[in-house]
Amino acid sequence: MVQIVRGLLILLALCLGAPAAAAPPALIPMPLAAVWHDGEVRIGADTVVEGRGEAASTADYLARELGLKSKRGGPSRIQLSLVPTSKIANPEGYYLRATGNEVLIEASDPRGLFYGAQTLRQLVTTKSASRTVPNVEINDSPRFRWRGLLIDLGRHFFGKQTLFKIIDEMAAYKLNVLKLHLTDYQGWRLEIPAYPKLTQVGSLVDGKPQYLTTADVREIVQYAAERHIMVVPEIEMPGHAGAAARSYPEFFNKTGDAFNPAYPKTYDFVRGVLAEVARLFPAPYVDFAGDEVGDAWEGMADVDRLKAEHGLKTSNDVQAYFGRRVVAIIEGLGKRPMAWDDQVDAHAPNSVVIQWWRRDKPEVLKTAAKEGHDLVISPADQLYFDYHQGPGEPGAPWEGNKGGPQSIGKMLAWEPIPGDFTPEESSRVLGIEACVWTEFIATERYLQFMTFPRLLALSEIAWRPKGQRDEAEFTKRLEPHIEALRARGINARRGEWDAYEFITN
Ligand code: ACM
Repeated sequence: MVQIVRGLLILLALCLGAPAAAAPPALIPMPLAAVWHDGEVRIGADTVVEGRGEAASTADYLARELGLKSKRGGPSRIQLSLVPTSKIANPEGYYLRATGNEVLIEASDPRGLFYGAQTLRQLVTTKSASRTVPNVEINDSPRFRWRGLLIDLGRHFFGKQTLFKIIDEMAAYKLNVLKLHLTDYQGWRLEIPAYPKLTQVGSLVDGKPQYLTTADVREIVQYAAERHIMVVPEIEMPGHAGAAARSYPEFFNKTGDAFNPAYPKTYDFVRGVLAEVARLFPAPYVDFAGDEVGDAWEGMADVDRLKAEHGLKTSNDVQAYFGRRVVAIIEGLGKRPMAWDDQVDAHAPNSVVIQWWRRDKPEVLKTAAKEGHDLVISPADQLYFDYHQGPGEPGAPWEGNKGGPQSIGKMLAWEPIPGDFTPEESSRVLGIEACVWTEFIATERYLQFMTFPRLLALSEIAWRPKGQRDEAEFTKRLEPHIEALRARGINARRGEWDAYEFITN
């Protein structure tokens, strides 16, 4: 009896006395594997960040982000080290260990070190006056190597300060491709010195020029590269070309919205523009879009002549002819062409990376995979951030977006690789890219509202391995991130009430 009472008392003491294990920090994206241990590493003003050789730039970045200036060895340190690929195979993967007085980050490439540093930023918590990192061991690497975000500067222009803020957040959440949609009906947003009217005429909004200068582009590309983000330019052709047509109508169709594929000098113009684009953007890809041409060439006598000369029967054949010539130009500039899935219908050569957006055409995605195209997946139902996020909220009024608002829950329930893909076809999926189209997005505040926090769900899907994702668990994990985004001045949506500001009718 005494034994039993004593046993119960000990049990009671254990329950009451055991410190509640602190919940681990809410990481986004969730790492592949994390093992948490008791205890923590203290981060103080005297904590030194060490990284030699190729690790130095990430060490400097991390020291800056954490506000650590100490150069001399203090009681605690953060050590960044490059190790052989035999130890960490994925160049974007990393190993992080926090124990004793040290946080160690290892990777085989500066990219992996950078992602380890991003995880560490999220691990640092402030308790009363001091900052700590919980003891932990993390092994991590991404599912997809293309983790992208497209910003449409064509419809509404956003300048470099807006882009720098987005790049900072992309880096924090381990995204690595920023696609800039630089041209459309509404505006041409890129300075091309050889064709000055593109911006003198084509970029005007209420009489004022709105575009990125070549110097702006160099700054943006550099800022992104320092954060391991590749900037991919998208120059729309043959359709969606109204701004270019207003600037140089001689290269365009009668209705002023598509390139004239029958005029030989059109291709000199295309080459001149793309040569500048290829010089300005070091990324190996140039995206020529090639979507939604429709019947732009109807009733053009010279296009009818082109058809007769080359045995082209349909408008799609003409589109294929134009596409082949543009692909040759881009490849001649030493770049890899990329285009929307409309180019699969136009029989693009399989060297073209295809971006799938038409979510009602899964057979086109399958065809592209079978034909051997590399693929980026961007279905309008899950990854078009111009659509509304909740019932009654503002967003693009297009007929697409099936299955309700493009909520975080809808995104998380989605698997990017179709179930009928073979392993060979699956290996062609480079990754995913969300698109912020801006027909209806005119202010930075609204742009941020539409982009955040969905960008964090994008990161979770792009980084974590295939598997069930729990919306309730993610939503809880998201909370401190939304607060942190807002503290950094980003207008991240907290809930439907934040939408009222943008509902205009
Ligand atoms: C697209 O939304 N037309 C790619």
